[in-house]
Amino acid sequence: MSESTTDVARDQLAQAAIAGINHRMMVGLGTGRAATRAIRALADRIRNGGLAHIKAVATSNASADLARELGIEVVEMRDTLTVDVLFDGADEFDDEMRMIKGGGGAMTREKIVAYAARRTVYLVQHTKRAERLGDSFRVPVEVLDFALGVLTSRFEWLGLDPRMRLDDKAQPIRTDNGNLILDLAMPADPDTNPGDRNAMDPEMFRAALNTMPGIVDHGLFLDEADEIIIEDENGDLSRLVRQKS
Ligand code: A5P
Repeated sequence: MSESTTDVARDQLAQAAIAGINHRMMVGLGTGRAATRAIRALADRIRNGGLAHIKAVATSNASADLARELGIEVVEMRDTLTVDVLFDGADEFDDEMRMIKGGGGAMTREKIVAYAARRTVYLVQHTKRAERLGDSFRVPVEVLDFALGVLTSRFEWLGLDPRMRLDDKAQPIRTDNGNLILDLAMPADPDTNPGDRNAMDPEMFRAALNTMPGIVDHGLFLDEADEIIIEDENGDLSRLVRQKS
């Protein structure tokens, strides 16, 4: 076993992410550090002969490039009807398995692949658990250039303090779809701010964002997770699992 293969085999979070993957499955590859660890573990399992005839769709160009480099067969999402299992990371989660995603700007593709997936698994550090969603992370919104002015002014009016996502040269970052990202503050909690006309819980906020033209998609993932695997500081794992009704 090479050193990197040993490292991958010892990576409990990554191994847990790929544990439910069987031969001939279509796998959704998430974006970010946690997903990258799982992509490496998947490639390793394929290389070692533990998994055969695996195909994958990627939630970002970066993950597609990495997977191809590692020898995973990546196909186009536009030609794909369903995905057997998706693994991905998240930026924040709460005890109700609601999440904020999009720290890497890939939330639109991540949500489409989650929608196509029979099963979704999210991989997070324990530090990402939030008492209230939005405590330490803004909600990214992917917007069409055409709608930038009207959406910015509407977000300001709603007290959402929109901030254009910029690179280290202060240039707007573009998503893989060629669009801009506005990072929004989470609205105040209506339970604790009954007099605040802009207060919204995450579900109300999602409903509001879903009705605004020019938003391609956003980073509120409130129902997408079937399972969240949480890694603590020692590398030990715990899980939140959605009860199916
Ligand atoms: C990418 O746009 C995001 O949704 C990532 O999945 C999220 O930022 C988690 O990334 P890390 O695993 O790198 O923290």
